[in-house]
Amino acid sequence: MHPETSGLRETSNTFIEIKKMSTSKNILITGGAGFIGSHLVRLFVKKYANYHIYNLDKLTYAGNLENIRDIENYDNYTFIKGDIVDKEFIQKIFKEKKINAVIHLAAESHVDRSISNPLEFVMTNVIGTVNLLQAANQNWNEESDNLFYHVSTDEVYGSLQDTGKFTEQTAYDPHSPYSAAKASSDHFVRAYYDTYKLPIIISNCSNNYGPNQFPEKLIPLFINNIKQKKSLPVYGNGKNVRDWLYVEDHVAAIDLLFHKGKLGETYNIGGNNELTNIDLIYTLCELVDKKLNQKKGTSKQLITYVKDRAGHDLRYAIDISKINNAFGWKPSLDFSAGLEKTIDWYLSNEKWLKNVTSGAYQDY
Ligand code: NAD
Ligand code: DAU
Repeated sequence: MHPETSGLRETSNTFIEIKKMSTSKNILITGGAGFIGSHLVRLFVKKYANYHIYNLDKLTYAGNLENIRDIENYDNYTFIKGDIVDKEFIQKIFKEKKINAVIHLAAESHVDRSISNPLEFVMTNVIGTVNLLQAANQNWNEESDNLFYHVSTDEVYGSLQDTGKFTEQTAYDPHSPYSAAKASSDHFVRAYYDTYKLPIIISNCSNNYGPNQFPEKLIPLFINNIKQKKSLPVYGNGKNVRDWLYVEDHVAAIDLLFHKGKLGETYNIGGNNELTNIDLIYTLCELVDKKLNQKKGTSKQLITYVKDRAGHDLRYAIDISKINNAFGWKPSLDFSAGLEKTIDWYLSNEKWLKNVTSGAYQDY
């Protein structure tokens, strides 16, 4: 249906793809009221006055319009409340809004919830993604300049031991219902490229942190618990390793790949910033003690080792060579500066924290 690449130019034996970037676009961003989505929507609305951004979000416990309050009155922005699983609704949006590109972030995103309620993850992450792919495939044609950009995770690659990093060639080996559902959605995105030539790009990113992350994920949960003098539950021995990236660096990479990435390709995005959970937690405790003018060591006393997460992946680490060699992208913010910014944000956004934790979000 779609040409594999749009506009090919030959330079010194390499084909460089030139994407026809039309001056205006109707972009559907799914999950734009969530953590990463809200940062992406803000970036696109402010940076690209020639794009109209349709932010489609179901507003689950994780979606919050407060995250994007500052841009709600921009002329090139429209919020649409809805479910990506709803077939007729998605078809209607594609037709009515003449959508020519999708950046797909809507998902159930928390591993612990996927362990207690896997079906919800299959519905949104798998069925919802296929529903969007199907609508794109039915509404786009060869002549139109389209892109389905799928935002995925490094968790699809499974778990590393002490050495090595995930590359784009690493075989998929998901362990949790969350990562299994994301892996499945990635396979469907690729299947639409291989089968129907739907123009797609996939990126797989490591752990994000920053403002507006729902306080169930490690960093915001622990900041919130310290504020409330609640215990800090460390799963297992705390030696699991994650590769942390500041959220604005992630959305900058998405912006770059959306405009310059090669159709049909996967790109890994990561922080070059591996930390064991316990080292991160010690640093976090020290910083929060300082910010709250507490005696050094106060927050550390709240650390409690608890039963390990079922199927807990030991280590994630991303090799960012591909995106770095192709476009020069690398993380711009170092972890201590990013963590300090994040802590400052949570400590000064009491109302946001109260608001998002006031619902039935603990039901898992
Ligand atoms: P999030 O949970 O903060 O936000 C998800 C958003 O999707 C919410 O606004 C929610 O309301 C919306 N949503 C959920 N189900 C929906 C449905 N059926 N229809 C429409 N909207 C729905 O998630 P996040 O951390 O911002 O992650 C965004 C994406 O990035 C996800 O696809 C996730 O897998 C991926 N990702 C996240 C990280 C991370 O560290 N947070 C890292 C790599 C990739
Ligand atoms: O790697 C990318 C993924 O990162 C994303 O795809 C997911 O959407 C995102 O949630 C995140 O998954 P993690 O499971 O790595 O993030 P989480 O913040 O839940 O946990 C980080 C680490 O901290 C993990 O090893 C589990 C541990 N942990 C987590 C919580 C919530 C604890 O020890 N205690 C906790 O209370």
